[in-house]
Amino acid sequence: MMVNLFFFMMIIIFIISRFINVGLSSSLEHDSHLLKRGVVQQKYLEITRPLPFANLTPSCTLPILTHDFGNTMGLPPISVDYTPPEKCCWKHVALQFNASCKGVHEYDRIAAVWLDGVDLFRTSTPEPTVNGVFWTVTKDVTRYSSLLVKENISLSVMLENLVDDVYTGVYHVNVTFLYYDIDDMGVPLSSRSNRKLRLVDDVFVDNRIRGDKQATAADLIMPISGNGGEGFWFRIQSDSELHGKSVIIPKNTYKAVMEICVSFHGYDEFWYSNPPDSYIRANNLTSQRGHGAYREVLLNIDENLVGSVVPFPVIYPGGINPLYWDPVVSIGAFDHPSYDIELTPFLGVLLDGESHFLWFKVVDCLPFWLVDANLHLWVDKQYTGSDCQVQAKIIDSGTPDLEMERSSDFEGLDGSCEVEMKRKSQYRGWVKSSAGNLTTTVSRQLKFKNKIKFHDKGNEKKVKQKVKEKIEISVASERGIKISHTSLKRKYPLTITTKSSKEDDGTISMLSELENELCEKKKWSEGDSGSCSSSLKNGQKCKGRMNVQDNVVVQGEATTEQSYSYNGEASSYSQEITAANGRLINDTANYFNLASFSTM
Ligand SMILES: *[C@@H]1O[C@H](CO)[C@@H](O)[C@H](O)[C@H]1NC(C)=O
Ligand SMILES: *[C@@H]1O[C@H](CO)[C@@H](O)[C@H](O)[C@H]1NC(C)=O
Ligand SMILES: *[C@@H]1O[C@H](CO)[C@@H](O)[C@H](O)[C@H]1NC(C)=O
Ligand SMILES: *[C@@H]1O[C@H](CO)[C@@H](O)[C@H](O)[C@H]1NC(C)=O
Ligand SMILES: *[C@@H]1O[C@H](CO)[C@@H](O)[C@H](O)[C@H]1NC(C)=O
Ligand SMILES: *[C@@H]1O[C@H](CO)[C@@H](O)[C@H](O)[C@H]1NC(C)=O
Repeated sequence: MMVNLFFFMMIIIFIISRFINVGLSSSLEHDSHLLKRGVVQQKYLEITRPLPFANLTPSCTLPILTHDFGNTMGLPPISVDYTPPEKCCWKHVALQFNASCKGVHEYDRIAAVWLDGVDLFRTSTPEPTVNGVFWTVTKDVTRYSSLLVKENISLSVMLENLVDDVYTGVYHVNVTFLYYDIDDMGVPLSSRSNRKLRLVDDVFVDNRIRGDKQATAADLIMPISGNGGEGFWFRIQSDSELHGKSVIIPKNTYKAVMEICVSFHGYDEFWYSNPPDSYIRANNLTSQRGHGAYREVLLNIDENLVGSVVPFPVIYPGGINPLYWDPVVSIGAFDHPSYDIELTPFLGVLLDGESHFLWFKVVDCLPFWLVDANLHLWVDKQYTGSDCQVQAKIIDSGTPDLEMERSSDFEGLDGSCEVEMKRKSQYRGWVKSSAGNLTTTVSRQLKFKNKIKFHDKGNEKKVKQKVKEKIEISVASERGIKISHTSLKRKYPLTITTKSSKEDDGTISMLSELENELCEKKKWSEGDSGSCSSSLKNGQKCKGRMNVQDNVVVQGEATTEQSYSYNGEASSYSQEITAANGRLINDTANYFNLASFSTM
């Protein structure tokens, strides 16, 4: 009986929510504490499909790092030596990140894993309970194979954590590499001769976002990152900061893709819900969360803008209402998406043997953004001598087209503001390598729209955002014959509604609803052999309430529904879950894998 009683007791711990309406109490904005239930160690998870080779036994396993992240605030990352296992045959590699934590905490945290300065993985941490939480993420890192074969390089993990008399949660982290020797010939025979290639493609497609087909991993990956003292990412504090690196790329490079990794924190954690500064000033608010609700990471080569990213709004496990994310975290929270930008048309600039400055800035940003990138390069192994250099030239760098409109209409704390942005670009360049003289054309259209409405003296806030992007990459021979075509369409709509009110008992209650979705459709074809496609629709709907008193939430409840559906050439996966108040109450999954990989 005593035991049962214990289980029915609500265990209250303090979790900070950082998403409170400005109207009622701007003083609450940064640190109101929430309650969280929890009686046993809770497993947290992000819904995603299994890796195609998840069921196979790895041919080798390399436990690379075990570390307890205690009071690590301001410290450099933990680094260990990496050397691949000896006498191990592998074609695919997965990184497994396991972590657990028990104790009282003030915030969720961001953690990252770098190999030789290359950003392999970013995860945010769930807010722990006194009974403990744990989570595990397995990520396909095969696209970093050229690094994973290297000996004596450094693997670094950063997780800045605060531990003192009040906050007691230490994160225990294990990082393991799993090597798989998948026989690509083991896939079912198909009448279509390029079946094998298609299946391999599917393996390489990232679980959620990949801007490009990566039939083979790059031959070389150059980190565009910092020196590592404060993590290898660049810490971007304002719109006026430029961060990047000068690089000289090999003269026999014939293909280049920049993979951008990004996360947003501090005053910009909820950038998509920030009102314009004029609103903050006019109402004498103390909030620092302004600069409006549009952010874009710009990628430049020397003086030229070559691409941009409006990141998917990953909500960290303490975000909006922390009770939403227990035990299912938000889309991307445990395995942050990265974004690929095809740079092959720019090889005409990069291949001149000179050093070029590749750099980022974040438009309108507030402190702080963590941005770094991995430059994936494919080199022509038949072109190695100094006189048989790959040649390249930009044919058309177009004039990137940007339209931007901002409007706002406020009366006191009520009113609305809107930002709309459209970007259109087309880049074309030829590259002559041993494969021939191929012309790559990259076209892109990006549409961004954000509207924020305040009612009821700012106590009701509605955020509606839409991001839509279409990228097409085509490669043609010198005679104009189509070699390959890839098209990627993605959109991520987001709506958040929050209503705060003062209750008779002196607490502030906040009702909230959230809908966040990631949709991606991809089509690719080689020559005239018909096209392949994959699609993903991953959406979450959350509803909840929390009551805050003296910055402590004394009550709350939340429901999260998620629907995940992926259809690829070789597999399909769907999962529907409902989580409520810390429990999974419904979880159905269907997995169909045509590939049935075999190990050698
Ligand atoms: C990590 O977690 C997975 C899944 O729970 C488990 O199979 C694996 O053994 C764990 N690895 C380590 C090193 O703890
Ligand atoms: C990490 O690995 C050690 C040793 O295998 C194990 O005792 C511990 O439970 C693991 N921790 C996590 C969080 O996986
Ligand atoms: C890596 O380090 C080991 C031990 O110091 C050494 O024997 C080996 O030659 C090194 N490998 C390379 C590629 O430098
Ligand atoms: C803001 O402060 C100024 C100066 O203290 C005051 O005149 C003005 O009425 C205040 N505005 C609001 C909306 O409170
Ligand atoms: C490669 O092809 C383009 C047009 O497709 C042409 O303008 C260029 O001169 C060719 N380059 C070489 C080195 O032949
Ligand atoms: C669980 O899912 C089943 C099948 O989709 C559905 O019939 C049922 O109503 C769901 N239950 C809850 C509590 O959501």
